[in-house]
Amino acid sequence: MLVSALAAFIHHLAAFAIAAALVVELVTLRGELTVERARRLVNVDAAYGIAAVTIIVVGIARVVWFEKGAGYYLHDAPFVAKMILFAAIGLLSIRPTITFLSWRSALAQNRVPALAADAQRRLRSIVHLELVLLVLVILCAALMAKGVGFFGG
Ligand code: HEM
Repeated sequence: MLVSALAAFIHHLAAFAIAAALVVELVTLRGELTVERARRLVNVDAAYGIAAVTIIVVGIARVVWFEKGAGYYLHDAPFVAKMILFAAIGLLSIRPTITFLSWRSALAQNRVPALAADAQRRLRSIVHLELVLLVLVILCAALMAKGVGFFGG
């Protein structure tokens, strides 16, 4: 019981961390880019990555060992939708991550990384879309936890 509760706790913590990281990225990508802001984006995006790996590992553990069992979730439409949405968020996050990682050499010399206005707008739109999909993930999570959408026998 305690392990299952701890797994749920870590899962929620990672979910909050992902939401917080995306909000910080969205806000930090507004306005002029500075060395300080660029550094914050690189660090927050790294934290986002760690939270995403954590939520996958703990999520799988909850599916297989701590909750209703893999057989249930694989026959639950909101769970399947949640996994598809989460994969979409993961794919969307690739471009911002590659961009932020490309800034490391400029930041090592305390220089503001080059970022064109339209590229900055595009990054913001991507992060915005990630946040919208995250809201849908949380909706699916609540539906699957309450047994809505189960199509197994
Ligand atoms: C951004 C990604 C994710 C978010 C925001 C998220 C969020 C949540 C939330 C809020 C709950 C609690 C639902 C409730 O009790 O009302 C939950 C439960 C759960 N999540 Fe996630 N989750 C994410 C990714 C994953 C992944 C990748 C997996 C599996 C690989 C997973 C598996 C589970 C399981 C098994 C439960 C327990 C459901 C139950 O009580 O039957 N989650 N998730």
